[in-house]
Amino acid sequence: MLILIRTLFAVIYLTLINANSIRFNNTGIQNLVVILQGVGHPPSNGTLLTAGNYSEIIVLNEWEGSFYTYPEECLNTACDYPVTKVSVAFERYMFGSFYDFLLVDLNQGFNVPASIKSLTRTDCDIGCDADLLAICPEEDQIKNEEGELVTCKTSVGNFQEFKKLCPEARVDGGDLDLSVCASMSYEITFG
Ligand SMILES: *[C@@H]1O[C@H](CO)[C@@H](O)[C@H](O)[C@H]1NC(C)=O
Ligand SMILES: *[C@@H]1O[C@H](CO)[C@@H](O)[C@H](O)[C@H]1NC(C)=O
Ligand SMILES: *[C@@H]1O[C@H](CO)[C@@H](O)[C@H](O)[C@H]1NC(C)=O
Repeated sequence: MLILIRTLFAVIYLTLINANSIRFNNTGIQNLVVILQGVGHPPSNGTLLTAGNYSEIIVLNEWEGSFYTYPEECLNTACDYPVTKVSVAFERYMFGSFYDFLLVDLNQGFNVPASIKSLTRTDCDIGCDADLLAICPEEDQIKNEEGELVTCKTSVGNFQEFKKLCPEARVDGGDLDLSVCASMSYEITFG
């Protein structure tokens, strides 16, 4: 009941201020540094999201931005290798109405599974749940100082395999794999 009331207030509040919410949830077993890059949010060094924890931001209409993560070791030392990215663009006008565009982007590389879903509808989910590190060819592997595999670069040698295992994700820059939705609250899951 309490959750219902809280949800109701959240919906009323968001409607009144004309805003959208994005929750990001670390469902993996390792702590992650979440980086948010978007309008009104210049790229930051990231915030730590411990395993099993989540965080939420409120953004205005027409906001557009991307989220990606690095391992905890990247909190104080900048890491800039290619990783899994999730992007959201709210309220784009198309065919007489407004839609949100959701994208799971492996165009540059993959480090953790990621997905995005609407919290109010069930027909907008898009994601890549497979562990593509497990099939990463030697030449595309990027390792940290401890020699652990931290990311897999997307390359001509592996993009077809990536696409097969994660058909909903954008892998080849030329394709149009995205989800078109209309919702005011989304949850991005990493890990
Ligand atoms: C985070 O994700 C997990 C797994 O999908 C889910 O069980 C949990 O309810 C989510 N937590 C929140 C606060 O969304
Ligand atoms: C979630 O993150 C908050 C803020 O960093 C922290 O206080 C809390 O202990 C964390 N909870 C879990 C279950 O890790
Ligand atoms: C980001 O991290 C670098 C070190 O990697 C540091 O020099 C810089 O001040 C940090 N920026 C912010 C906004 O914390």
